[in-house]
Amino acid sequence: MPGAEDGFEVTPWGVRGSIDYDRLTERFGTERLGGELLGRLRRLAGEDHFMLRRGIFFSHRDLGRALDAHEDGRGFFLYTGRGPSGGTHIGHLVPWVFAKWLQDRFGATMYFQLTDDEKFYSKKGMTLEEARGHAYENALDFVALGFDPGKTRIILDTEHIRTLYPLAAKVAAKINYSNTKAAFGFTGETSIGMIFYTALQSAPCFLEDRPVLIPLGVDQDPHFRLTRDVAPKLGLEKPALIHNVMIPGLRGPGGKMSASDASDALYTTDDPDTVKKKINRRAFSGGQADVEAHRRLGGDTDVDVSYQYLRMFFEPDDAKLARIRDGYRSGSVTTGELKAVLIGAANRFLEGHQKRREEARGMLGRFVLEEGGARWPER
Ligand code: TYM
Repeated sequence: MPGAEDGFEVTPWGVRGSIDYDRLTERFGTERLGGELLGRLRRLAGEDHFMLRRGIFFSHRDLGRALDAHEDGRGFFLYTGRGPSGGTHIGHLVPWVFAKWLQDRFGATMYFQLTDDEKFYSKKGMTLEEARGHAYENALDFVALGFDPGKTRIILDTEHIRTLYPLAAKVAAKINYSNTKAAFGFTGETSIGMIFYTALQSAPCFLEDRPVLIPLGVDQDPHFRLTRDVAPKLGLEKPALIHNVMIPGLRGPGGKMSASDASDALYTTDDPDTVKKKINRRAFSGGQADVEAHRRLGGDTDVDVSYQYLRMFFEPDDAKLARIRDGYRSGSVTTGELKAVLIGAANRFLEGHQKRREEARGMLGRFVLEEGGARWPER
C-alpha cells in the first residue's frame, strides 16, 4: 500500500497503526482545516460546533467552494454513507452528527448511501441479504439523529440502482484499472465488483446540479480522490469534502473503532450493562500502574480512550471536559472515576438514541428515495 512505510495505513477497508494526521494530510494531499476558512464556516453556520473546536473535523478538500455556492445563493447539498457490515458504532455517528448540524445550519438536502453491494463483495461470508438487513438497522441510527424527512433521502445501492447506474457508468468510463489499483491496492484476487464499486460511491456526488459537500471519516477519502479526478472530464463539479479523525477502538490507541470487532466497539444498541462492562474491562487507560503513582504523576489524556471518547463524542460541554482533563492529568481523578464518567455519559446518550431509533422504524419510509421522475437530474 502507498505510504505503509510511515508505520500506519489508512484505507477505506482498514486502519493499521497509529495515525499521524499531519503526515496523512500530506500523503492524501488534503488541506488542514483551520484559520480563515474555519472562521468562515462558523460565521456562515451562525454557530460553532464542538467537533470543529476540538479538531475532530481536521481536514477538507474545496470546502471554500461549497461555502461560495452557499453565499452566491446556489447552495450545496450534502452526501454521506455507510457500508452495512454490521451494527452501527459510535465512530459511524461522528460524521452523521456533524452532517445533521450542517443540514440544520445550511438548510441543505442530504443523501445517505447504504452500500450493501460493497460489503457483500468485501466481507467474506456475508450474504447480500445479510448486508441489506444491516443496512436497515444502520438507517434507523441515521434517522434517529433527527434529519429532516423533507430534505433527506436514503439510497440503498441494490434497490436504487436505476438512479445510480447512469452516473456510475459515466464515472467508470473514465477510471481505468491502474487508477483503482493505485488508490486501493487491489490484486489479481480482488472481486471485479470491488473494482467497479468506487464508481457507485461516486454517483451520489452528481445527484443535484450544484456542488456537494461530504462529511466523512478520512479513511473514505481515496474514493473521492478518484471522483475529483474524473468530475472535470465529465463536465461535472468536483465534490467538496470535510474529514473527521478516526475514533480508536476501546483497546486503542491506534487503529480505529471497527464493526469487525464487536468487543472493541460501542454499538448504538448496547445495553447499559454491556457498555459498563466493555468500558471497565477494555477501555485503554492513560493512568499509572497503581493509584499511588497516579495521584503523584497524573494520567495521560492523549492516549486514554475514555477521555478521548468524551472529547470526540460524548461531552460537548467544554467547561465540563476541561474539568475532567485537568483532574485526570493532575491525578485527582483516577482511571476508575474517569471510566465511570464515560459510562454515565455514554449510557445517557444511548438511552435517548435507542428511543429515537425505535421511533425511526415507523418513519423510515419517509426517507427512502423515490425513483423515476422528479429527482432525476436534468442535464
Ligand atoms: P463505513 O460504513 O466504513 O463508515 C461509515 C462512516 O463512518 C466513518 N467511520 C468512522 N469515523 C470515525 N471513527 C471511526 N472509527 C469510524 N469508522 C467509520 C467512515 O469514514 C464513514 O464516513 N464505503 C463507505 C460507505 C459510503 C460512504 C459514502 C461513506 C458510501 N458513500 C460517502 C462516506 C461518504 C463505508 O463503508 O463507510
